[in-house]
Amino acid sequence: MSLPTEAVSPKATPLPPLPEEDPLTPAQWKMLLAIADAVIPAIKPTATANTRTEVAVAGNEYSTAVSALRALTPEDDHDADSAAKEYLADNASSNPLFKMELQRMFAMYMPQSTRKQLSTVLSILDTRAGSLALTGYLTPISSQPANIRESILKSWSTARLGPLRQLHRSLTVLSKQTWIKVTPSLRRVLGVPRVPTGMMPGVGHDYAFIQFPPGDKPEVIETDVIIIGSGCGGGVSAKNLAEAGHRVIVVEKGHHWTPDHFPMSEADGWNHLFMNGAFISSDDTSTSIVAGQSWGGGGTVNWSASLQTQGYVRREWASKGLPFFTSAEFQDSLDRVCERMGVSTEHVKHNPANEMLLEGARKLGWSHKAVPQNTGGNQHYCGHCTFGCGSCEKQGPSVSYLPDAARAGTQFIEGFHAEKIVFSKTMKDGKKLATGVQGTWTSRDMHGGVAGAPLVTRKVLIKAKRIIVAAGTMQSPLLLLRSGLSNPQIGRNLYVHPVMVIGSIHQQDIKPWEGGILTSVVNEFENLDNAGHGAKLEATNMIPSSWLIWLDWRGGLQYKLDAARLRHMAGYISIARDRDTGRVYPDPIDGRVRFEYHPSKFDKQHILKGLLALAELQYVAGASEIFTVLPGMRPFIRDPSLPASGDGINDPVFQAWLNEIKAKGFPSPESVFVSAHQMGTCRMSSARRDGVVDPQGRVWGTEGLYVTDASVFPSASGVNPMVTNMAISDWISRGIAEGLEGRAML
Ligand SMILES: Cc1cc2nc3c(=O)[nH]c(=O)nc-3n(C[C@H](O)[C@H](O)[C@H](O)COP(=O)(O)OP(=O)(O)OC[C@H]3O[C@@H](n4cnc5c(N)ncnc54)[C@H](O)[C@@H]3O)c2cc1C
Ligand SMILES: *[C@@H]1O[C@H](CO)[C@@H](O)[C@H](O)[C@H]1NC(C)=O
Repeated sequence: MSLPTEAVSPKATPLPPLPEEDPLTPAQWKMLLAIADAVIPAIKPTATANTRTEVAVAGNEYSTAVSALRALTPEDDHDADSAAKEYLADNASSNPLFKMELQRMFAMYMPQSTRKQLSTVLSILDTRAGSLALTGYLTPISSQPANIRESILKSWSTARLGPLRQLHRSLTVLSKQTWIKVTPSLRRVLGVPRVPTGMMPGVGHDYAFIQFPPGDKPEVIETDVIIIGSGCGGGVSAKNLAEAGHRVIVVEKGHHWTPDHFPMSEADGWNHLFMNGAFISSDDTSTSIVAGQSWGGGGTVNWSASLQTQGYVRREWASKGLPFFTSAEFQDSLDRVCERMGVSTEHVKHNPANEMLLEGARKLGWSHKAVPQNTGGNQHYCGHCTFGCGSCEKQGPSVSYLPDAARAGTQFIEGFHAEKIVFSKTMKDGKKLATGVQGTWTSRDMHGGVAGAPLVTRKVLIKAKRIIVAAGTMQSPLLLLRSGLSNPQIGRNLYVHPVMVIGSIHQQDIKPWEGGILTSVVNEFENLDNAGHGAKLEATNMIPSSWLIWLDWRGGLQYKLDAARLRHMAGYISIARDRDTGRVYPDPIDGRVRFEYHPSKFDKQHILKGLLALAELQYVAGASEIFTVLPGMRPFIRDPSLPASGDGINDPVFQAWLNEIKAKGFPSPESVFVSAHQMGTCRMSSARRDGVVDPQGRVWGTEGLYVTDASVFPSASGVNPMVTNMAISDWISRGIAEGLEGRAML
């Protein structure tokens, strides 16, 4: 078999138009872009720099930078010199897409209150008094030359006032992230291919979606079971119930993208495939959440890691009055979903970062293993799955469970936002009987895409005997609240598996964007309190816009030079099974998802322990440089002139550096944690006052209403949640199928 030599080019995925109303005033824009251009400035040698708009560096420093970049630029770029100079000369705002992307973020994703805070700060910076107080100059930043703008930003990072450090963090992250998504100059220096090398396009399931004609009155349809959300929980439930012979409809807010659109470009992918453009920050901005939102939910963007729930977590859940979790039935469910997705470690080919994780752990005598992948028995050396799987090898719900469901007669509606559950009456025992779902359907545009105005927008009422909520941990509780349920547990008990990243630089090429993202795990530190809390060590996604935003910003030139070394980097996460929780709730103004979460002192200790362990691991793996993303923390640089000593991690210079990290800890408010694992906001409980759903998955105090997504976890799963989630959904939906049969026979 020969691989195609030409990269296959995915279809275009244009974004919806920007809202007409501009979220910022012209003066606020000017200020914001002037700051962004200080984070990502144009850099020129002193002799030719225009110091208003360009950061001037000494001639020799400039030529050192150019040769460093030239050496990094891919060999097949015949003009590495101009690639390097163009990269240095790039400022954030020179690309019109930069402002458009920011505008999208402000107008469409940022909660009103956050937007208001930021725009107020921008206006204050524009007054003489405000400028003096915040920058030390009467002249507002937007009228300052480039070097001064940059030095003001640097000074904020070490300011005594927490809010200034937080402002520094927010503005640098926003600028870095947006620039990385849209800049061609960085891409050229990095040499990251648009599509995984050798990707063979796959053919997906040919879905048919229900369409509705225009109309003023709500369209009413009727079925046995309606499932809200096409993600991991929804997909499994749909298959089981349809195969049991019931009429099933799955509705999904997001749209279906055929595999020939995958992997999407970074700029498009974040917008099309993630909730809120992946821009969801806790109220105190300490924690940032990434959740999938498209056909197939989190399963379309996840990284294939398919781990079964561990014994200590099952025992903890069983001890809360939920014996199912230590039963043979639960194991059957776990095995059934793993079987269907072809989960195994047999075909795993580790990329260098995962190989180093395993080898480093071996050298240190730490417990480690390969992580099974749901890649249907294929090798799948891809790395781009965060933006969708073009080869269809990754067995996400959209290529496994949902097609099975379709073959068994399930019907689908995309672009359907479930607004509320309809209850027809309150029964004698005080329970509310759920009988339908009300929502809004938004069709595609006249070209069959989502970039233009929809042809039809229609209210739809779907009546059903059973209603299954599988909208994910962030949205399911909001839907229950919008429906008038008032159990105070709804939205509480938010677990997120908080993550902190750490990375290293290696002499050799790592090309960390290649290969399975998460194919290994070190579990030596997963139980640090003897109650099942601790940190796992895993490799992470190294696509530029997911990774390079974490590199510390200590100045424009330093940041650009650091970012350019991506091909030599390995990146890892210390991911904690959190004991302490947060809460999800609707924004009081616009109803969008908001959440409170701050990793507790207890959980932070575990994350820190994991981070230090990852540093040791990278030391023994031969890293020439190890860097944290803790603000202002210097990297560890191995002295290349010293011969390797027998000390290993006992190297006193290295130990001194680890002690510096320990002393620093995670300074607040500028440290940021990330999460792709949200769980627990509709937790299962054996008693009504302790949770949202009963041991069968039924919402307490209701009839006919169930939840089957990761929100029902009684606490954090410890492992990556997909398989646990699907197994629980498998079991709950089997129970629902039996219940429906029982009723039919009466
Ligand atoms: C980048 C990334 C990588 C990950 N990698 C892994 C991994 O390797 N292994 C692993 O085990 N886990 C991984 N996860 C986590 C995993 O994807 C989630 O735990 C899992 O998808 C949760 O499933 P769910 O059913 O709870 O919800 P989701 O899969 O999130 O599905 C919910 C769906 O409901 C839709 N929806 C929401 N509200 C409404 C509404 N009102 N009306 C209609 N539809 C609605 C959403 O659009 C979404 O598609 C990853 C997550 C991310 C974001
Ligand atoms: C950024 O670059 C553009 C084009 O090169 C230039 O016009 C603009 O003034 C620069 N921005 C700032 C704030 O220096």
